[in-house]
Amino acid sequence: MSTSNELISEKAATGIEGLDDILSGGLSRSHLFLLEGEPGTGKTTVALHFLQAGAKNGETSLYITLSETERELRQGAKSHGWDLDDNIHIFELTPPESLLNAEHQQSLLYSSDLELGEATRQIFEAVEHFKPTRVVLDSLSEIRLLAQSSLRYRRQILAIKHYFVRYDATVLLLDDLTTESLDKTVHSVAHGVIRLEELTPNYGAERRRVRVVKYRGQKYRGGFHDFTIMGDGVHVFPRLVAAEHRGGYNRQTLSSGIAEMDALLGGGVETGSSSLILGPAGTGKSLISMIFAAAAVGRGEKAALFIFDEELGLLFERMNNMGIDLEALQATGNLLIEQVDAAELSPGEFSHRVRRCVDKLGIKTVVIDSINGYQHRCRKKMR
Ligand SMILES: Nc1ncnc2c1ncn2[C@@H]1O[C@H](COP(=O)(O)OP(=O)(O)OP(=O)(O)O)[C@@H](O)[C@H]1O
Ligand SMILES: [Mg+2]
Repeated sequence: MSTSNELISEKAATGIEGLDDILSGGLSRSHLFLLEGEPGTGKTTVALHFLQAGAKNGETSLYITLSETERELRQGAKSHGWDLDDNIHIFELTPPESLLNAEHQQSLLYSSDLELGEATRQIFEAVEHFKPTRVVLDSLSEIRLLAQSSLRYRRQILAIKHYFVRYDATVLLLDDLTTESLDKTVHSVAHGVIRLEELTPNYGAERRRVRVVKYRGQKYRGGFHDFTIMGDGVHVFPRLVAAEHRGGYNRQTLSSGIAEMDALLGGGVETGSSSLILGPAGTGKSLISMIFAAAAVGRGEKAALFIFDEELGLLFERMNNMGIDLEALQATGNLLIEQVDAAELSPGEFSHRVRRCVDKLGIKTVVIDSINGYQHRCRKKMR
C-alpha cells in the first residue's frame, strides 16, 4: 500500500500553483499528456513552467521544438525574466534540407515518409543523448503534417508514447489545433488532456481559461478555471467549490458601532453571513458598508474593501465628509483597500484575490462595492 506522500511524489508538478491544485498535484510521472489550445493561448509558457519546476528538483528536461526557433523560445522565456537552467535542453528540429531547397522538393528521395522517419529518429536521438525525465514536444501539428494520413499519425503518436514510456519520461505534447479535422487521436492515446482557451469580450481584456478534459485514474477539479499570463508567467485561479470550505466557526453578532442601526438589525450582522445592501443611487449603500468596515478595524480586526465603481480619491473625500477617515484606517494596516477594474479582471481572479485576503491575511470583513460591478464582469458577452 502506498502512502499519500508517495502518491504526491509520483506526480511531476507543473510549477503553476493553481494548475497543480486542479490536477491534484501535477502530471503522473512516466505518462504522456496533451496540452492543447489555439495559437497564443499560452501552451509554450505553461510548458516552460513545467520544465523549470523539474529543473528546480534537479531533473533534466528537453524541449523539442518544431514550430518556434530556439532563439524565439529563449526570447519568450526572457520576457518573463526566466534564464533557462542548464538542465533544460532545447532541441530545435529544423526542417530537412528538402523543404528549403526547391530542387530537392521535386526529388523522390525526400518523400514525407522519409521526413517523418527522419524527424522521429532525430527526436529519439536527442532523448537518448540528454536522457530527460521531462519532455515537451512543440507542436503536434507539424507531426500531423508530416504523417499526412490519420492512420500514420496515430501510429506515430503511439510509437512516441511507447518510446517515452521505456525511458520513464513525463511527456507534454503541445497541439495548436491548427489542422482542420477534429482529430481525437491523441486524446485517446494521452493519459491526460488539458485545454487552454482565450475568449475575447466585446470590451475589456481577453479572458483566458483552462480545463482538464481528461485525466486517467485521477480525480481532478473539473470545469473551467480562469488564468492569466503576466510578466512573471502563468497564474491559474481554481474555481471555488463552496462544499470544500464548509467548516464550523464561532458565531457572533458584529456591531456597526451605531446603536440605532444595531437596534434595527437585531444587534448587528452575524459572522459568517453575507449582507446585501440595496438601494437607488445616492441612498448611502457605500456609507453603510464603510461603517461596518470601520467598526471592524475599530475592534482591532482586519477588513478589506474592493471598490469597483468609484475612484478612490473621490471615495476618500466623500467618506471623510461623513466622518470616516479611510486613509487613516488604511494607515493602521488593518484596512486593505483595492480598486478593481472590472474590464481587466476575470471573475476567477477576483474570487482568488478575496480568498487570499481571507486565508492569508486573516481578513474578517469584506466589502464589495458594488456587486453590480462584479456581476457586470461575470456576464460580459463573449464572442
Ligand atoms: N512577458 C509577457 N507578459 C505578459 N504576457 C505575455 C508575455 N509573453 C507572452 N505573453 C502572452 O502569452 C501569449 C503567448 O503565449 P505562448 O507563446 O505560450 O502561446 P502558445 O500557445 O505557445 O502560442 P503558439 O501556438 O503560437 O506557439 C501571448 O499572446 C501574450 O498574450
Ligand atoms: Mg508556442
